[in-house]
Formats: sequence, C-alpha cells, structure tokens
Amino acid sequence: MKWNFEGKNAFITGGASGIGRQIAMDMASNGASVAILDMNEELGNKTVEELKKAGNGKAIFLKGSVSDKEGVEKLVAQAMTEIGDFDFLINCAGVLRDFLVSRFNEKFWDFTIDVNLKGVAIVSQAFVTKWVNESRAKAKEKGEKYLPVLENKPRVIVNIASLAAEGNAGQVAYSASKAGVVGMTLTMAKELARYNIRSHAVKPTLIDTPILGELLEKDEGKFKKYYDGRIPFGIGQTSYVSDPVCFLCSEGAYFINGSLIPINGGKMDGL
Ligand SMILES: NC(=O)c1ccc[n+]([C@@H]2O[C@H](COP(=O)([O-])OP(=O)(O)OC[C@H]3O[C@@H](n4cnc5c(N)ncnc54)[C@H](O)[C@@H]3O)[C@@H](O)[C@H]2O)c1
Repeated sequence: MKWNFEGKNAFITGGASGIGRQIAMDMASNGASVAILDMNEELGNKTVEELKKAGNGKAIFLKGSVSDKEGVEKLVAQAMTEIGDFDFLINCAGVLRDFLVSRFNEKFWDFTIDVNLKGVAIVSQAFVTKWVNESRAKAKEKGEKYLPVLENKPRVIVNIASLAAEGNAGQVAYSASKAGVVGMTLTMAKELARYNIRSHAVKPTLIDTPILGELLEKDEGKFKKYYDGRIPFGIGQTSYVSDPVCFLCSEGAYFINGSLIPINGGKMDGL
C-alpha cells in the first residue's frame, strides 16, 4: 500500500521478523527511516539490508531485549543519535509460551510477561519520558505548565496485542500479557493525548509468521486446516497487520486516539 512517510522516523521492536519486519518494510518503502530493536542479530542485520534497498531513508539494527531496561535506554539514545527524533514507536516484539491454567508454568509465565508486557512498558517509557520532558521544558519557557496540545510534535505509539487478549484456552500467560497491553494502551492514550501523542493497539488473529513454529505444518497440516476453517477469511498474512498500523501512523488517523483494532479475519468470537 502507498503511504506518505517521507521524513518520518519509526522505532520498531521485534522488527527483524514476521509482523514487525513487514511494518518496517512498509514504512521504509514509503519514505521512513527505521530503527529495529530485536534479539535476533542475524535476522536483524538481514532485514536492515533489505530496508536500505527498499527505501531512501536510514535503517539501523539494535541488538537487545525489550525487557532489559538499562539496555533499552542505551539503545534508544543510540537510535536518536543515529537517526534523530522519532515519530512512531511500534511495540511488536513478542514471544509465545502456551500452557493451560491447570498446568501453570511459572518459568513460562515470567518469560512471557517480561517480554510481552513489561517490554512494552520499558520501551514506551524510554520514549515517552523524553517526549514529555521536552514538552514540559518548552511550556516552562513560556511560563506555562503545559504546552498547547498542537504545539507538540504529533507522535504515534502502536502496540501489537492479540485477539488472545479476549481469552483463549491454552494461552494463560500469553492472553494475560496481551490483555495487559490493551489496558496499558488505553492508559497511555488517556495520559499522553495532552502531549499530542496518540496510542493504539491492534489485536490480530492467527497470522502466518515464525512465532507459530511448526504449528501450521505439523500433523500433516491438521492445525492449518482447523484454523483456516475457523477464520472466515483464512489465516492472516503480515500485511494484514501492517496496513492498519501504517494507517494509524498516517495523517488520515490524526483525529483517532486509543483505538483497539481487531484484525480478526472476519471472526467475531475471539481467536
Ligand atoms: N503471528 C500471530 O499469529 C500473532 C497474532 C497476534 C499477535 N501477534 C503478535 O505479533 C508480534 C510479532 O510476532 P510475529 O508473529 O511477527 O512473530 P516473530 O517471531 O516472527 O517476530 C517476533 C520478533 O520479536 C523478537 N523478540 C522476541 N523476544 C524479544 C525481546 N525480548 N526483545 C526484542 N525482540 C524480541 C524476535 O526475535 C522476533 O524477531 C508479537 O507481539 C506477537 O505476540 C502475533
């Protein structure tokens, strides 16, 4: 799809693979400079090479974990030095560790919550603290407590949640982490609108990416057939998530804050 992201800068966690990579490619090929933060160095470097070919903007890879607060703060500072100020933050890094509540697994619980929920908070705060401080400093120069909203640079945060936020058998930790992301997004939308920062979450159904591991291939495609049958428009592709994310970052979405977009393939009752 065509968007106008000329002169815009995007910071995308989990941008080395799957949905995050697609968002990075779509933004870069429509004019944006992109920084991706990911644990996977090999894929991260490969994606950056592709981003450079796709567009005229800058593209950098930052190796790190979203749940490492000190590391994230250093990497965000590095990204700002190398690319400049950011317009968009896309919190996309995520992990999947499935178990039933009756088989509660503390190690998997902590890991999932650390990456999917705490990671979104850690990366968001690294940007938001800077943006809010910058706004407050400008207001102070004018002898005001707050800058008039529209005097702040417009910025957008999009968090990649999941339809599992509405509950999904076998995904206790994952659904809790994504429901947390939804709550956090609404809180950020309420706190940050006064600084001209809009916050959104998208909630995809099943999308064919490496996070699914062998799920779609195993048992002679049994699960693939099952999910293809359950989702009216079939299992999703990464562009089905990237397109709405790009819309939320575009000028056309300027008047929208705090949206929770179900990317549900036509299915109205959860995953
Ligand atoms: N694929 C789906 O069906 C689906 C559905 C709904 C939501 N989601 C969400 O979409 C997001 C992207 O997932 P995907 O499907 O593209 O999977 P993916 O595995 O292709 O991509 C996830 C990326 O996150 C990175 N990552 C993992 N832990 C990290 C950490 N601690 N710090 C930094 N990077 C880390 C991985 O290295 C990988 O590059 C996730 O948040 C996932 O929960 C996926």
